[in-house]
Amino acid sequence: MVIIKQLLSEAQISGFRDNLNLVPWLDGKETAMGMAASVKQNAQANPEDPRVKQLSNQLLGIFGAHPKLVSAALPHRIFPPCFNRYATDESYGFHVDAAIMRMPNSQDVLRSDMSMTTFLSDPDSYEGGELVIQTEFGEQRIKGQAGDAVLYLSSSLHKVTPVTKGQRLAAITWMQSLVPDAPMRSILHELDQSIQTLLSNPDIERQELDRLHHVYHNLIRQHTQV
Ligand code: NI
Repeated sequence: MVIIKQLLSEAQISGFRDNLNLVPWLDGKETAMGMAASVKQNAQANPEDPRVKQLSNQLLGIFGAHPKLVSAALPHRIFPPCFNRYATDESYGFHVDAAIMRMPNSQDVLRSDMSMTTFLSDPDSYEGGELVIQTEFGEQRIKGQAGDAVLYLSSSLHKVTPVTKGQRLAAITWMQSLVPDAPMRSILHELDQSIQTLLSNPDIERQELDRLHHVYHNLIRQHTQV
């Protein structure tokens, strides 16, 4: 599980919030895949609406260009983000995300390796609405700041606890990674983070950095599946 702080700027957050006030919303059950529908209680911005498509594309562009996100997920395909809203008393019970998703208006399918929630509401503006993820280290409960994102394995059971006051707005997406093996992806992410830290250290010899870069790219080459 990786938390990406401030994936969105203040200006971007308010832009999305303002625009999402103007779009049509559907019952979330309509877009739930398979078993998930029975436990899903929320609303989803209509993905067919042109304004929603535009917001989704805008967010997709931000995701694809974000170095931390690219480093952690090594995305091959990113599903156009969906926007969801939990009003008071709404929740999403434990479920696993669908393994295979058809990309909208395309013949391509996406294998969901990682799921990502981007928080759009200020955590102080609602009560409850925590994202709970079952991991090998037990349950992780996350309630991010507006603009923060959390990346987690799509294979993990997760839920959103009932919102007891206010409303919770978020964007969700799924990614197929170039590196399907989750432990390897995590090692590559660590290596990249270390390289990035060394890059900002003026005392590090260029040659050593080049060597580490070389190792990183050769590992990517070896473990990539496209
Ligand atoms: Ni889910």
